Amino acid sequence: MAFEKTFVMIKPDGVHRGLVGDILSRFEHKGFKIVALRMLNITPEMAEEHYGEHKEKPFYKGLTEFITAGPVVAMVVDGDNAITAIRKMVGATNPQDAVPGTIRHDYGMHTGRNLIHASDAPASAEREIPLFFGIDQILDYTHHSEKWVYE
Ligand code: RTP
Ligand code: MG
Repeated sequence: MAFEKTFVMIKPDGVHRGLVGDILSRFEHKGFKIVALRMLNITPEMAEEHYGEHKEKPFYKGLTEFITAGPVVAMVVDGDNAITAIRKMVGATNPQDAVPGTIRHDYGMHTGRNLIHASDAPASAEREIPLFFGIDQILDYTHHSEKWVYE
């Protein structure tokens, strides 16, 4: 097994549409462990740091306006193969390309309202987690159902 931590963020559309509980439930029901969780407003500076790789893209301005337009729910999720597995649960960037059963397919319509972010690689998780959480905000605990999730 390869236990790893990934950064996940429910975007302002997910918060305003009342989907926080449903989305969190998907990760819990799958067997992942939430080890950090907070609600916040992203500042333009944080948006620039988080999405800096897209700075030259035509959608960058709209993306940063959208991500700062309301509260987000940020979290760190822990589990076996978490980075790849959670990207699969999130689905393709464009909800119209996302397969049924993924979050973006099941709740979304357009790329600019795709509800959720998740780290796309170990290096991204390592960069993104400290933007939102101090080391003392990431909890280390054993989930009571761990032996019923992992063999
Ligand atoms: P994210 O970073 O939010 O998890 O999304 P992603 O990896 O699936 O996609 P990425 O290429 O990193 O794009 C970041 C976010 O920018 C918006 N976007 N708009 N209009 C467009 O062509 C376009 N492309 C991307 C989306 O909100 C996407 O999630
Ligand atoms: Mg991305």
